[in-house]
Amino acid sequence: MKEHEVVVVMDFGAQYNQLIARRIREAGVFSILVPYNMPLEEIRALNPKAIILSGGPASVYSPNAPRVDSGIFKANIPILGICYGMQIMIHQLGGRVDRATKREYGHAYLEVTTPSPLFAGVKKGMEVWMSHGDHVQTIPAGFKILARTENSAIAAVGHEEKNIFAVQFHPEVTHTPRGMEIFRNFLYEIAGCRGDWTDASFVEEKTQEIAETVGDKALVCGLSGGVDSAVAARLVQRAVGKKLYCIFVNHGLLREGEAEEVKSVFQEELGENFIYVAAQDRFLQKLKGITDPEEKRRVIGHEFIAVFEEEAQKIPDVKYLAQGTVYSDVIESGLGIAARIKSHHNVGGLPETMKFELIEPLRELFKDEVKRIGKLLGLPDALLWRQPFPGPGLAVRIIGEVNEKNLKIVRLADKIVRDEIKEGGLEKEIWQAFAVLPTTLRSVGVMGDGRTYAYPVVVRAVTSEDAMTASWAYLSQELLQRISRRITNEIDDVNRVLYDITSKPPATIEWE
Ligand code: XMP
Repeated sequence: MKEHEVVVVMDFGAQYNQLIARRIREAGVFSILVPYNMPLEEIRALNPKAIILSGGPASVYSPNAPRVDSGIFKANIPILGICYGMQIMIHQLGGRVDRATKREYGHAYLEVTTPSPLFAGVKKGMEVWMSHGDHVQTIPAGFKILARTENSAIAAVGHEEKNIFAVQFHPEVTHTPRGMEIFRNFLYEIAGCRGDWTDASFVEEKTQEIAETVGDKALVCGLSGGVDSAVAARLVQRAVGKKLYCIFVNHGLLREGEAEEVKSVFQEELGENFIYVAAQDRFLQKLKGITDPEEKRRVIGHEFIAVFEEEAQKIPDVKYLAQGTVYSDVIESGLGIAARIKSHHNVGGLPETMKFELIEPLRELFKDEVKRIGKLLGLPDALLWRQPFPGPGLAVRIIGEVNEKNLKIVRLADKIVRDEIKEGGLEKEIWQAFAVLPTTLRSVGVMGDGRTYAYPVVVRAVTSEDAMTASWAYLSQELLQRISRRITNEIDDVNRVLYDITSKPPATIEWE
């Protein structure tokens, strides 16, 4: 990719940190989150236009308080500290941070006391969002106090010659309505950015880069039905046209209508290059008698690779494998910055004999950015706003054996839950909503004149930012009632509906 301006956000662990990187990109500058302890030389290797020190839960006085490489303060790179980022900066530069007698949390009015480029355009002050215990008591030499709130005499500071600034409030959250202005001031007035990051420029550059890399070789991409692989495939298709082959393995564990939807989006455009593999029976055979969750995953993963490999081998001259890896996958797998920059390695799980080189065009993007890119590439909303869905599919939502009968029940229940969530207008608010079938459990019920002894269905609905943590969703009683009524009315073998009121942690989102 063309060299972009980049802003490095050093991550001290606050929940808002991904949001900081995103806001910077929204302001038109590419931004990445890196661990707080990244050494100066590695930071320099990224050639950043600026560094942001994020917020975090620690206190600068706690025994293992996370610190930055002090070299950054002398590196002639503009810096903005936010919340803990401000405190640790002040602490490392010789100022004093004290424990506040009163924690400041929530809305506050920030009064700008000294004019500075950071608050350019802010006349007197603005509403800000505060969330901190410790506060800055004295500032290091060369710094000036720029703003205050009722509870924080030192709410923003700056060293203009060195281009080092810091704020105690959180400009990244929507509760700080003018936060974007602060970021823009920092990027454009202080750090001298030009702003060369837009969705359209990303698409153009990636297209060009992929076309150059692939040359006249063929490229294969596995479609899962999910957003990421679809967007990656569409982007690659734009770059290489008929040299792209998409393989879609229907393992029979998909949701209602899913296979058809993927087919309708890709088959027409890709023509013969769309390879649909109906492997339902094959997977069911392998899953017979298996109830252990890990064993299910292993069998499905293994079979998936076998099918994929068989199909890929039929395509002549394949050199590359395109994958929809996104930034959170990279972070979650703990690969870190080095692996993120070096993207040519083989895929975990694929056999050694399949020596593909990887193309992962979405590797630097957050989920919502992937959706925007997908929109720009003309993918339908129904696909882009689809909930995350696990690779092993409905198999991990059947507690007990996966067979046709159980799949039918859980698929119908899943459709009812999703339909009702959509009907209630909650589709974009709810991270995931689905049904789980615990076949290990049956209970007594009464229907018509007769006694039943049937399965319960568990309804699970959660809100989440990134699936690392999740909260169970407060669905309305009316909505829950409709879901319950429909499931018991429309599905044989189910006589009870339960709602899962557990967050993650301690539970996980899925049941297996
Ligand atoms: P858990 O259940 O661990 O799930 O809270 C977190 C998120 O990951 C999805 N998930 C998977 N996705 N392959 C996937 O591609 C898997 O094996 C898998 N297991 C869970 C889950 O749906 C949730 O969004």
